[in-house]
Amino acid sequence: MAAEKHSHRVRPLIEATALARRVGELAAEIERDYPGSDELVVIGVLKGAVFFVADLTRAIRRPLTLDFFQTSSYGSGTSGGEVRIKRDIELSIRGRDVLLVEDIVDTGWTLRTILDLFRFRGARSVRLCALLDKHEAREVEVPIDYCGFRIGRDFVVGYGLDYAERYRNLPYIGVVEFTEEEQTS
Ligand code: IMP
Ligand code: MG
Repeated sequence: MAAEKHSHRVRPLIEATALARRVGELAAEIERDYPGSDELVVIGVLKGAVFFVADLTRAIRRPLTLDFFQTSSYGSGTSGGEVRIKRDIELSIRGRDVLLVEDIVDTGWTLRTILDLFRFRGARSVRLCALLDKHEAREVEVPIDYCGFRIGRDFVVGYGLDYAERYRNLPYIGVVEFTEEEQTS
């Protein structure tokens, strides 16, 4: 669906200062949980987690390596669990501690799929960090070790998240509110 066909507005939900504060808290928790000198591999899920993983990793004061994974789903959303790999990671994760960083967990299928794949590849540990958790929308259980904010079922944009590829560059998280004509079409 093309955003320009649907009149809507974006209502601010989580402001930039609140995001920055929470990212700092998550980074501190992660630092505490990985005290060893072993290499931590941080893997961001493209494209939505790009700003989150950039801010988070710069706040983690310990050695780490950074890589990216990209998925897409069939049809509308990941409902049903058909998650496709669009871009695989380049680094080896065998025997490594992996921190998977995602923008939002909705049905849970995306993270569930990547988590299972990384475990299969022999990672020593895989933990999940998600900025936003749409808990009520979950279809498959995923253990989120580090969660930024729990939100409702609303469609959100900004700080990496998009609506038809728009709004990724908003510095805050907002809710997309549609007009009445559009809900009936
Ligand atoms: P899941 O596999 O259903 O958990 O879906 C996760 C992916 O769906 C996220 O990585 C987002 O790309 C996308 N997504 C889910 N909810 C939203 C939203 O409210 N705004 C923007 N993207 C979303
Ligand atoms: Mg995503």
